[in-house]
Amino acid sequence: MGVLHPLRATLVCLALIQTSCEVAEDTSEWDTATATYSNQTDTSIVTEGACGYGDLPEATYGKYSAGVSSVLFGKGRTCGACFEVRCVDHILWCLQGSPSVTLTTTDFCPPNFGLASDYGGWCNSPNRHFHMSKAAFGEIAEMKADIVPVQFRRVKCERKGGMRFTVTGSSGFYQVLITNVGLDGEVVAVKVKGSRTGWIPMARNWGQNWHSNINLTGQPLSFEVTSSSGRTATSYNVAPPNWQFGQTFEGRQFHGVKDSNNIAR
Ligand SMILES: *[C@@H]1O[C@H](CO)[C@@H](O)[C@H](O)[C@H]1NC(C)=O
Ligand SMILES: *[C@@H]1O[C@H](CO)[C@@H](O)[C@H](O)[C@H]1NC(C)=O
Repeated sequence: MGVLHPLRATLVCLALIQTSCEVAEDTSEWDTATATYSNQTDTSIVTEGACGYGDLPEATYGKYSAGVSSVLFGKGRTCGACFEVRCVDHILWCLQGSPSVTLTTTDFCPPNFGLASDYGGWCNSPNRHFHMSKAAFGEIAEMKADIVPVQFRRVKCERKGGMRFTVTGSSGFYQVLITNVGLDGEVVAVKVKGSRTGWIPMARNWGQNWHSNINLTGQPLSFEVTSSSGRTATSYNVAPPNWQFGQTFEGRQFHGVKDSNNIAR
């Protein structure tokens, strides 16, 4: 049943106007949480970058990002996922009309067990908390607020261009960081293929870093990425045979139902 669902959803979508279909499929109900903001940078480098994005968030995901507490982070599963957040129920601090902002999960907000979960330990379990970039926070609340009550929901991610594959590691350890992921933004499985190999499942190392120990040096690389909604995008030969560690390549993107027109690179 669970396996059939995405297929059935696609068939239903084909029969409907695309926008109404995507709303039904990619947007969840509003839920409650709290939010603070980071003064350190405009992005949310709360830890050293639990998603593995490092300095990338601003370049890849824009100014609107957040580190999220454990329950929302899902051990890195939601790295790259998009949430719509709005400030509610605080007459002094929420901006009038409760405007919302869409942000990308780029980091983990670690628990602080030295502080009570309702007094400073905002990211302690089971709290749902967004430690937002300054730019994002400024669009929903007064900057003088320290913590505000919010509502949030998962939304689809709007991305420009294809998914990006950054190849890191060293001979014998092949790691790829996947960014700029559209739609649900949440990668659940990755396979890699060289010219002399079949499709090899990669294992999640941390955040959106996936690895394999198969020797892929000197071979063009193809990637197959599966998102949490069950969509798969295959990017053939994204990296040429002479790819080097540290390089980034652009592949295909997840699109709506029209994505079969998209040309693989
Ligand atoms: C951020 O910096 C401003 C100006 O220094 C300060 O007024 C504000 O309280 C700081 N906010 C946080 C969340 O640290
Ligand atoms: C990986 O393959 C390349 C090209 O065939 C070869 O030069 C290299 O020695 C291999 N590396 C390892 C660790 O086996």
